[in-house]
Amino acid sequence: MENQQKVKNLIDLRVQAKLGGGEKRIGSQHAKGKFTARERIDMLLDDGSFEELDMFVTHRCNNFGLEKEKYLGDGVVTGHGTIDGRIVFVYAQDFTVFGGSLSETMAIKICKVMDMAMKMGAPVIGINDSGGARIQEGVTSLAGYAEIFERNILASGVIPQISAIFGPCAGGAVYSPALTDFVLMTEQNSYMFVTGPKVVKSVTGEDISTEDLGGADVHAGKSGVSHFKVVNEEEGILLIRKLLSYLPQNNLEDAPILSTNDAIDRLEDNLNSIVPDNPNLPYDMKNIIHSIVDNAEFLEIHRHYARNIIVGFARFDGISTGIVANQPNFLAGVLDCDASRKAARFVRFCDAFNIPVLTLVDVPGFLPGSGQEYSGIIVHGAKLMFAYGEATVPKVTVTIRKSYGGAHDVMSCKQLRGDFNYAWPTAEIAVMGAAGAIEVLEGRAIGALTDPDEKAKFITEKVIEYNEKFANPYQAASYGYIDDVIEPRNTRFRVIRAFQALQSKKLVNPMKKHSNIPL
Ligand code: HXC
Repeated sequence: MENQQKVKNLIDLRVQAKLGGGEKRIGSQHAKGKFTARERIDMLLDDGSFEELDMFVTHRCNNFGLEKEKYLGDGVVTGHGTIDGRIVFVYAQDFTVFGGSLSETMAIKICKVMDMAMKMGAPVIGINDSGGARIQEGVTSLAGYAEIFERNILASGVIPQISAIFGPCAGGAVYSPALTDFVLMTEQNSYMFVTGPKVVKSVTGEDISTEDLGGADVHAGKSGVSHFKVVNEEEGILLIRKLLSYLPQNNLEDAPILSTNDAIDRLEDNLNSIVPDNPNLPYDMKNIIHSIVDNAEFLEIHRHYARNIIVGFARFDGISTGIVANQPNFLAGVLDCDASRKAARFVRFCDAFNIPVLTLVDVPGFLPGSGQEYSGIIVHGAKLMFAYGEATVPKVTVTIRKSYGGAHDVMSCKQLRGDFNYAWPTAEIAVMGAAGAIEVLEGRAIGALTDPDEKAKFITEKVIEYNEKFANPYQAASYGYIDDVIEPRNTRFRVIRAFQALQSKKLVNPMKKHSNIPL
């Protein structure tokens, strides 16, 4: 064959590979409102930056006549490119080839880019759209999944891993996304479950639709498996790009610093009156967050899940910062099992990737009751305590209002190595709220009073006495547990100054194989 012909053959093979499972299947992918694997990668990466690998890999399966049906690249497109000029490694399952089902060779392709990402210290983004294990291959497909899982585990805490679910993700396949740092799902077309509706029906008799079992609403709102729910793939892809802007390339680097025109000493007068006089009234903690961060930009994570706590990324003077904040607007900002797990995982992510943490506290305590106890609030609350106590990144805490009991300790208190712990003058730091405390301390005296008016007067007096002593930040400040009581409108400046002072922080935990966080 002449050399010119060889070049032409290469070009033809590339064209063929780019068609994946063929035009008909691409058409049906589009008809479902889905993009193809290559279209997704093109949208995700900087223009023209994609370098594809392993385009000529084909499967090696000879079962069920599969040897007669081969597609260049098999069911996944892999390679690297850049996002905002920074290198990332990507793989996108190609539903047009055997429904994106995972073959042995697909797993090898995916593992290759994961290994390269680890070597280069760069994030990995996986786009999932697959019918699961390639049924014709049997156990080699299962082994391929396990190879991917092991790499997900070893990469955890070393490079950021992001999973987009843009189609089916079922069976054991769900565990790769679950092992990664962030999962996002589209409202239409995406679902995740360990066993599908048919198996559920045959085993338990439960009749349930795909959406109700494992759609985006379920995982973003109820299970917490998905950190984000997006309207469509375009929104999902923009979100991945934005999320990466807050993250370092790996655990040895810092997140990029974005210059800002937002003055560090910007005063927010409205904050001086944002906390209602009545301690039982709610307010929206997000208003405080938006007021103090650079340009009011806050990327919330797990927005629909455990809304009594808020977590997400923002910047202070251009520096990427994780924010954890109780939300008085939802369940009074109480800590329950889901909120504790949600915040614990976020704090651990920030700590693994050198992202400082700001904690805004307004927490009445842990949610009481048998429901929470039976669900293991003890162990879930301990997760959050563990995450804060273990974290060595800069930690700044601002107590806005309530900080009661065990929840006070958990929410990045001084003794859990909080670096700067500030409080607003509206803070109330105590073992418990006044009503509960008086019940315990004065129960006998209250019981002895028979006249209802006398009883009410007595309780009111005791509550006033208790509140004067404890419903303020000054007892804690007198012990140095609170480093300073700050004017609310000046919070942005004080937080930035605190993080500036912490830039050279060095803190190392005792040597160990790994900790044993209460799981
Ligand atoms: C081989 C598969 C496949 C699979 C789909 N296809 N899933 N081929 N192995 N797992 C093929 C179909 O034969 C079809 O081929 C093409 O992909 C598109 O599939 P359709 O069924 O036409 O598409 P759709 O109607 O959109 O349905 C998608 C689907 C369905 C819901 C994903 O295909 C499905 O239920 N597939 C099986 C899912 C499953 O049970 N997988 C195993 C899970 S257990 P043609 O040639 O017609 O285009 C598992 C264990 C993993 O994954 C364990 C890891 C530890």
